[in-house]
Amino acid sequence: MSDQTIQETQPDAAAPPHPTDEAAINAAIQAALAAFEASGNLEELKDARLAHTGDKSPLSLANRQIGKLDKSEKAVAGKLVGSARGRVNKALASRTSVLEEEEAARILVEETVDVTAAPVRRPLGARHPLSVLQDRVSDIFVGMGWEIAEGPEVESEWFNFDALNFKPDHPAREMQDTFFVEPADAHLVLRTHTSPVQMRSMLERDVPVYVLCPGRTFRTDELDATHTPVFHQFEGLAVDKGLTMADLRGTLEHFARQMFGAEAQIRLRPAYFPFTEPSAELDIWHPGAKGGPRWIEWGGCGMVHPNLLRAAGLDPEEYSGFAFGMGIERTLMFRNDVPDMHDMIEGDIRFSQHFGMEI
Ligand code: DAH
Repeated sequence: MSDQTIQETQPDAAAPPHPTDEAAINAAIQAALAAFEASGNLEELKDARLAHTGDKSPLSLANRQIGKLDKSEKAVAGKLVGSARGRVNKALASRTSVLEEEEAARILVEETVDVTAAPVRRPLGARHPLSVLQDRVSDIFVGMGWEIAEGPEVESEWFNFDALNFKPDHPAREMQDTFFVEPADAHLVLRTHTSPVQMRSMLERDVPVYVLCPGRTFRTDELDATHTPVFHQFEGLAVDKGLTMADLRGTLEHFARQMFGAEAQIRLRPAYFPFTEPSAELDIWHPGAKGGPRWIEWGGCGMVHPNLLRAAGLDPEEYSGFAFGMGIERTLMFRNDVPDMHDMIEGDIRFSQHFGMEI
């Protein structure tokens, strides 16, 4: 590569214009003006400013040489370079103000706040009334010193039926009622009620036992206005020395009044459940019922069957117990006047919202 080629690639660095060379000075002016015009924003203009008015710009270098010139040349050069720098600075100032105005206009548009725009609202959520009611029931029993118990939703057939004294041919085991979980020889079901927690609690805890178990239950019902295959119950179980049907009655009466007001009453009608003896259907006198106060079927209850106590290792001569179970959906329906089950399961927030956070 020859020296010639190297020079051609670096013409500016090699040769600042001579301060009396009018053509070269003009070329430097034109280059500066073109660079300012070509700058599209203040950032670019800053680079152009440094290149054409900075210490190492051609005109500054030319200016610095003036001092070394002869007196005769000094005046010419001073005028030439001075006016060149003047023109360049003027062009820079005017380009700066144009770009500043453009930038201000852009910011004004980009950062505009449209006070008429619809606000972004984050709607408040709501707890589902079934959850709120379940908590309320739990609170009433916790207030009496009871504990909350839990059991699995996929339950062994033994806990769901056999341990509760259901005979092998009991109709509740029929395929139409119960979801059996595959494989069949695992003998698992989706619990059809919360009663299996009775036996689990007696096996897991020391006596005395006072537990309330709210939870999800499953039956092969078609969804309609009053049935749903997935629903909720709460189960109560008390096991202690000397408990009688009077304790059951007193507990349920207190519970009913907490739920339905001081005028609520209960009545027990003889019934049959394999895991309680004697057993009863529980009716409630609902003072605030829609269409006027009346008796409404609420759930089942009874004295824990001695077979269950024995299976749990307790002597039925020494210990006795009572139990009860109700549906939460059903309770919500007649307590809060919800005529159609579909509303409870569809998940429309408006349904939940109208109950508020306390029911
Ligand atoms: N488990 C019963 C059902 O789902 C309800 C029931 C009845 C629960 C009597 C009880 C009871 O604890 O003693 O229909």
